[in-house]
Parts: sequence; C-alpha cells; structure tokens
Amino acid sequence: MSSIAADHSQAAAQAAGAAKVIQPAWVRIVHWINALAMILMIMSGWQIYNASPLFNFTFSRSITLGGWLGGALQWHFAAMWLLMVNGLVYLTLGLITGRFRRKLLPITVDGVVGDTRAALTGKLSHADLSTYNYVQKLLYAGIIAVGIVIVLSGLAIWKPVQLQWLTALFGGYDVARYVHFFCMAAIVGFLVIHVALALLVPKSLRAMIIGR
Ligand code: HEM
Repeated sequence: MSSIAADHSQAAAQAAGAAKVIQPAWVRIVHWINALAMILMIMSGWQIYNASPLFNFTFSRSITLGGWLGGALQWHFAAMWLLMVNGLVYLTLGLITGRFRRKLLPITVDGVVGDTRAALTGKLSHADLSTYNYVQKLLYAGIIAVGIVIVLSGLAIWKPVQLQWLTALFGGYDVARYVHFFCMAAIVGFLVIHVALALLVPKSLRAMIIGR
C-alpha cells in the first residue's frame, strides 16, 4: 500500500473512531460534577427552606441535608462553589468549542411540536445519539438558562447588601427568594423527566458515562 493510501486509510479509521465519541470527556466530567453539586444544593436548600418556609409546607427531614439550618448552610455554600466553577467551565467550553451552537441550536416551534407529537406516539427515533431532537434541545437550553438564574438569584439573597444592584434587578430580596425557589422546582421537575428518559434510553446514559 502506498504511503498516501496508508495515510488515507489511517485517517478514515481515525475519523470512524472519532465519530463514535458521542459525549466528549469534558462534557461527561462537568455533567456528573454538576449532577452531584445540584443534588447537594437541592437537599441542603430544602433544609434551609424548612427554617423559614415560603409556603404552607416543609420538606421531610429524610430528604434534606445538613440536619439543621447551620449545617445545611455549610453544605449549600460548599456545593455552591462546585456548582459555580463547574458551571462556568461548562458555559465557557460550550461557547468556545461551538458545542452549544451545534447541539442546541436552532430551536424551532415546528420542530418542538413535531418531536413532541412523535415522542407521544412512540415514533421518535433514538438511532442517532449524536444529535439532540428538538425536545431535548429545548429542555437542555432551558435548564441551562434556569441554572444561570438560580445562581444569580442565590447570589442576590446571599449578598443583598454588597450585590444590591443584583437583588434590585430581581425586584428585591423577597422576590429573589421566590425566583430561587421556583428555579429549584423547575430543576427538580426537569430531573425527574431527565432521569426517566435516560433510563428509558439506556444507551444515552452509557454515552454520558463512557462517551460512546
Ligand atoms: C443524576 C441524574 C442525572 C442523570 C442520570 C443524567 C443523565 C444524562 C444523560 C444520559 C444525558 C445525555 C442524554 C441525551 O443523549 O440526551 C444528559 C445530558 C444532559 N444533562 Fe443530565 N443527568 C442527570 C442530572 C442532570 C442535572 C442535575 C442537570 C442540570 C440541572 C442535567 C443537565 C443535562 C444537560 C444540560 C445535558 C446536555 C449536555 C450537553 O449536551 O452539553 N443533568 N444527562
């Protein structure tokens, strides 16, 4: 075989190998760190909420973290750094590698309606895991936006004096608290659907663990 032909077949083999990587390592690493940080934030957040509930209910102690207000605040602030630094890495790499543009855009109303209909009638294809359908695009872009708002509203209620411009942007401390709570509810709702779908299509879970 000539060296050009050998180079060509090597490049083709590499291309075939590369094509098999569905989730690159950096996505998998930040995704699982994010999942851990989110779960710690949610469970400790529920314990903090219980000390001064916004609504007529509290969360069962069995699903909270920290044991009491002080302990929960320590968990919440520790996991906050993990969530924020990891989130910034994900946003930065997602933007500079073009992943967000490639994987999450465009999102069209027709596409979302069509794919929702296909999903409900069992006709949605999961053959090609390397491209997200419109429902996935919408959910992922939406949850990334919610992730940004929950961090900003959290900062607004953590440092309402130093960051008063941010607290004011939310309409004040009390409104920021409600925004923070509803973002948590959206993330928990997303998580229930997201985990259920990951279990229904186990090869997508496999790709998020081993990449292929
Ligand atoms: C512990 C439970 C979780 C499991 C089992 C899980 C599983 C998965 C799987 C299998 C994928 C790839 C699915 C696909 O091909 O569509 C994925 C992607 C994704 N997950 Fe999760 N996930 C979890 C937690 C979370 C949390 C807490 C968030 C955010 C609040 C999240 C946000 C995302 C996003 C944004 C993507 C798309 C990432 C990208 O392509 O850049 N996940 N997850």
